[in-house]
Amino acid sequence: MSRIVSGMRSTGQMHIAHYLSVLKSYKEMQEKHECFFFFADLHVFTTGADRVSEIKNNTLQLAVDWLASGIDPEKSVVFIQSQVPAHYQLYLLLSMITPKGWLERNPTVKDMIRDYHLVDTVGHGLLGYPILQAADILLYKGEMVPIGKDQRPHLEITREIARRFNKLFGYTFPEPKEYLREYPLIKGIDGQKMSKSLDNAIYLSDDEKKIGKRVAKMVTDPQKIRRDDPGHPDVCSVFEFHGVLGDAEKESRVRECKAGTLGCVSCKKELAGKLNEIIAPIREKREKLLENPKDVWEILEAGNKKAKQVSSEIWEEIEEKVGLKYY
Ligand code: TRP
Ligand code: SF4
Repeated sequence: MSRIVSGMRSTGQMHIAHYLSVLKSYKEMQEKHECFFFFADLHVFTTGADRVSEIKNNTLQLAVDWLASGIDPEKSVVFIQSQVPAHYQLYLLLSMITPKGWLERNPTVKDMIRDYHLVDTVGHGLLGYPILQAADILLYKGEMVPIGKDQRPHLEITREIARRFNKLFGYTFPEPKEYLREYPLIKGIDGQKMSKSLDNAIYLSDDEKKIGKRVAKMVTDPQKIRRDDPGHPDVCSVFEFHGVLGDAEKESRVRECKAGTLGCVSCKKELAGKLNEIIAPIREKREKLLENPKDVWEILEAGNKKAKQVSSEIWEEIEEKVGLKYY
């Protein structure tokens, strides 16, 4: 059994690609490991402190998505980053031992600067993004971190920081390993990577009708206009999505698509049906949870307490190691 730590920025609702790639793996992990999963609300400030008024509601929406998807607060510690003060504390301390060159050459931060148009306004906090992430992980002595490929540079910095800390102050932190999610990239309805900012996503809150409408808009083989036109499944994102869900009819789909006996309309209807089957139980649970947000906040508060307990013990050890234990 390993200790796993992972967070997600509180930037709004989750879509089906998040569910299939992230939440499903969280669910598997919580059966086998000791898991700390949290909402990284402080990290939201790094890309725009002027737009943070939505954080609290976004955290709620994310929490509801997680709980409805089967993240079980009895099995995992589910908490809010900002509510555990030691995250702020360790961030400051780690920033003191992190050379700025490590941060300046971080490709993920460079991408964020470009994507969020922050070239002229890069804050200290954005540059320090990986330091906060390192604090998140090391504060629990995390051993494994489930991440997507884009997060690898951050985790590498976490390991470098852990190594440096251990060398300076004596062995304290294990170097966390990555738990890479092996999952194909999931495309949105426009054929690009599914993403909230591209407005091409299907959300865990979408109802059956909306799912149907969104899937109907998906790009297929542009050469297949009528049902009897021969199609090319290998260039079709509807076909690809069927495959991601484990297509039991793969062979006949290819055959019939090519032969012009299967039309895109019914092929899409089938996909929408499969997606609704996955989403419907989650959607219903999340709606139920949202009837009483107070209960959700209480669940998270219990998680905050557990996280505080574990992290405060480790924080004591850190203070001791760096020579700041006065009393
Ligand atoms: N940077 C991560 C993301 O955008 C979120 C995150 C913050 C995180 N702290 C973390 C992930 C610690 C893993 C471990 O997805
Ligand atoms: Fe794609 Fe299905 Fe249309 Fe073939 S029939 S092009 S697989 S949507």
